[in-house]
Amino acid sequence: MTKTSTEKVTSTAARDLFVPHEGIYLLSHSVGCMPRSTRSCVDKSFFAAWEQGDPDAWSGWMPVFDDFRQALARLFNASAADFCPQVNISSGLTKVIHALPEREGKRVIVLSENDFPSTGFVIQQAQKKGYEIRWLAANANLLSLDTWEQALTDDVQCVLISHVHFNTSTRTPVQSVVELARQRHIFSVVDIAQSSGVVPIDLTQWQADVVLGSCVKWLCGGPGAGFLWINPSAIGQFEPVDAGWFSHQNPFEFDIKHFQYADDASRFWGGTPSVVPFAIAANSINTIADIGVEQIAEHNQRLTRKVIEAVDPSCLQTPEADAHRGGTLVLKLAQQEAVENRLTDVGVRFDARALGIRLSPHIYNTEAEIVQVIDCLTLK
Ligand SMILES: Cc1ncc(COP(=O)(O)O)c(C=O)c1O
Repeated sequence: MTKTSTEKVTSTAARDLFVPHEGIYLLSHSVGCMPRSTRSCVDKSFFAAWEQGDPDAWSGWMPVFDDFRQALARLFNASAADFCPQVNISSGLTKVIHALPEREGKRVIVLSENDFPSTGFVIQQAQKKGYEIRWLAANANLLSLDTWEQALTDDVQCVLISHVHFNTSTRTPVQSVVELARQRHIFSVVDIAQSSGVVPIDLTQWQADVVLGSCVKWLCGGPGAGFLWINPSAIGQFEPVDAGWFSHQNPFEFDIKHFQYADDASRFWGGTPSVVPFAIAANSINTIADIGVEQIAEHNQRLTRKVIEAVDPSCLQTPEADAHRGGTLVLKLAQQEAVENRLTDVGVRFDARALGIRLSPHIYNTEAEIVQVIDCLTLK
């Protein structure tokens, strides 16, 4: 799809850009639907270069990474050189934690019990390096700056901030927390897995130290294409231990006794990367950017608000205010099992976690579908 920056894609046109899913697909917090253009893009970006090999496959594959970084730069208002492809968020976070500079008196890492477990597993490994963990309790109010003020004491080296929580859909006021961390000389690392593609994000405005993301969810980019953004003003302080030739300043130097970090975010790369996931993801990110995250957010909020207005307020596990929520609604219903059975019977695709069922309307979901979902949620 090509459109000028002033044109708005209608919801129907936007919906047509994706492969329709059987039933009512509300699992975009887990895996987003595939853009129709995916197969042809993989043919062009991956198989054509391999078949033709002119002069070798890599000369055809390398532009995939430029496209991926450019697409991210476009979506998040940032520079392409500040992004580094990663396999996933956990791996990117491991690299970041072990690349932190030693600073006297800074031995604490702060995170929340509501962060995604995989990121918690990574941070617990940092205890082997002598770090102490400070958990924000699951019931702490992460919307209140007081909570962060109390946790971010002078001995904190780094804070993990989930922009949107996977289990409650709470949207953290990232910019204020980042600002607070900066004032206290604390590195801020933001996880945008659950917000990218459904909540507008401006990385230049945030000025965090590191941002980690995944393309598989709302960005509809499939598994295997994560990314790391690093603030150019902080990059010199980070020395990743899992280096490789793609993180070298000059990958083709081939002097085994001389390693020099790349000046840009590539220093977080490593050895030979996979190509297909990034070809798929670059195409998907551009599809999402063409539609516009503002439009996706507006559509998502219109549909989620319809559900909120129809159900008993006591079953809402997500913040009620649109500005405090990500794209997912989490509901704990009185007759949970009966409701789950009804949803399944009419073909609704959803999942359930400890706090309730998760429903995530994307641009490819319609109001008519949400009316059907509401019928299931409100049946007496
Ligand atoms: C908030 C959040 N962070 C991270 C992840 C996934 O991490 P990884 O890319 O390491 O699998 C998820 C997946 O659901 C998530 O919801």
